[in-house]
Amino acid sequence: MLSPKMLQALNDQLQAEYFSSYLYLAMAARCADLNLPGFAHWFRVQVQEENQHALKFFDYILLRRGTVELKGIEKPKGDWPDAPTVVEDALKHEQYITQRIHNLVKLAREENDPATEAFLQWFVTEQVEEEASVDGLVQQLKILGDSPSGLFIMDRELAKRQVGGAE
Ligand code: FEO
Repeated sequence: MLSPKMLQALNDQLQAEYFSSYLYLAMAARCADLNLPGFAHWFRVQVQEENQHALKFFDYILLRRGTVELKGIEKPKGDWPDAPTVVEDALKHEQYITQRIHNLVKLAREENDPATEAFLQWFVTEQVEEEASVDGLVQQLKILGDSPSGLFIMDRELAKRQVGGAE
């Protein structure tokens, strides 16, 4: 059985993963507004990944006979001026989520809950990939600088991303 503290933290992470989904949906919308359909598609795929992350927490809570608590989801911002600010915010968000996952691992150890610690290992690894894929976008945009043709080519590449792949 999950301890009350562990259950609350897992429900909080379920909410955080759905917030991630909502944030990336806002980023997809903004990229579409900026006439970057490839970036918009990349974030749409990211939305699906975050929904899958959320459902992993949902299923795990139920598997441990915990009570799922669906909390309200905050309104994400949507006024990014350009592609670099969108992807930089996405990277900051992933770094924040990584920190949250590490805090959950710490809590699982404190609560003497090796099953939850083992469950969280998938997310520890996933966060390394999540950060690397968004950081890849940040770095590519830095190399492009102010090149509109470079941005056009990058946008076309991002349009090829499929669910389960970084790009
Ligand atoms: Fe669910 Fe992008 O971390």
